[in-house]
Amino acid sequence: MARVLVTRRLPPGGLDPLTEAGHELVEPEAERFTQNEIVALAPDVDAIVSLLTDRIDASVLTAGAPRLRVVANVAVGYDNIDLDAATERGVLVCNTPGVLDETTADLAFLLVLAAARRAWEAESDLRGGRWRGWDIDQYLGRDVHGAVLGVVGFGGIGQAVARRAAGFGMEVLHHTRRDTDMVGWRGDLDALLADSDIVTLHVPLTAETRHLVDARRLRLMKRDAVLVNTSRGPVVDEEALATALEDGTIFAAGLDVYEREPEVHPRLLAAPRTVLLPHIGSASVATRTRMAQVAARNVVAALAGERPENLVPLPAKETS
Ligand code: DGY
Repeated sequence: MARVLVTRRLPPGGLDPLTEAGHELVEPEAERFTQNEIVALAPDVDAIVSLLTDRIDASVLTAGAPRLRVVANVAVGYDNIDLDAATERGVLVCNTPGVLDETTADLAFLLVLAAARRAWEAESDLRGGRWRGWDIDQYLGRDVHGAVLGVVGFGGIGQAVARRAAGFGMEVLHHTRRDTDMVGWRGDLDALLADSDIVTLHVPLTAETRHLVDARRLRLMKRDAVLVNTSRGPVVDEEALATALEDGTIFAAGLDVYEREPEVHPRLLAAPRTVLLPHIGSASVATRTRMAQVAARNVVAALAGERPENLVPLPAKETS
């Protein structure tokens, strides 16, 4: 029997694979463990089930050595985990790809529709008592049906968004660095941005994708374009996006993620035609439960000495 630190209370049933395998859970009495508590508990556990809001950095991994064997993030993204430090200490890292694709794609499409049709702006006027009745030029948006959708990053979530777009009669382009051999592939991101009416981002956050959409790239987009981001906040330069929305460089934006969560850039809060959601891409009961179960199964496999299904490739260990 191993000891597994679970940094936060998870949906009911989410940890069943761990308890069924007979492992002991170290769970917070309150909602979550603090960063200091995680560091303090790390030396006495064999595994950590973490969330994207936990910093699994060198201090946690050093504290966990040599007992800690695996960190399983309840998220597809793992930019909160220091992979170099994990490699250095021989700790496996796992994530939860696949199970959240459809739910996150639903939300990305919600943002596409809401931003393009200015739904939140209209709703908040109505709720605020500012609606004076129908008029011919109110809340004019841009059509989604028949538009060109540019999908940046074409993994499970990007492809799930593309499937939804087919139902709206959209032409779908996609950008990945390597040729997908699929219809609509564009190797040149700048060209995809220039040709798309609506752009949706689905890349992981890495050194290469930080500020992938910056002031220069925003200027390449059409003036009536919509930008949607459900990936990671730092993929977009928020200052530049706020400027682009304020001066009409692009038409609208729909965001679920931010550069410094939970802070939201004040200029984005005030920007016109901007829909802002609090990082809820995968937030359905079924999906969050499945994500926890996948993370738990990854831990069970790693502790049994098997290869977990969702092992994150670690950078090669440096030799001197
Ligand atoms: C993830 O999994 O990385 C999302 O941001 C949260 O579901």
